[in-house]
Amino acid sequence: MALYSEKVMDHFRNPRNVGVIENADAVGEVGNLKCGDIMRMYLKIDDDTITDVKFETFGCASAIASSSMATELIKGKPLSEAMELTNQAVAESLDGLPDYKMHCSVLAQEAIESAINDYYDKHPEKRKDQTDG
Ligand code: FES
Repeated sequence: MALYSEKVMDHFRNPRNVGVIENADAVGEVGNLKCGDIMRMYLKIDDDTITDVKFETFGCASAIASSSMATELIKGKPLSEAMELTNQAVAESLDGLPDYKMHCSVLAQEAIESAINDYYDKHPEKRKDQTDG
């Protein structure tokens, strides 16, 4: 059995949304201390919707594939929906990751969360909107 699904290989070899957004509305960065991999997410946000997203990942194949898939999953989505994206959903969209590589999808989920929190830190009134439902 192949170690990685075809989708993982596809997103690793041909990652979507790689790069930097120069005047991003929010930036998130996370790292995994164990493997040393780092992920940075840039968001463009308009009216609480993610209109553009780019990422830079200095890490393993699964981390690159996970961030690529995660950006595809949140692009065009409202912040509230992006905030709820789980690492399991990212891994499932990639047709699975080996167990010992699940933490790579966690990195993608955390990078998005970190970027959204950066946005709410800059716009506290928006966070309030969220919690008020
Ligand atoms: Fe570190 Fe994959 S081994 S994110």
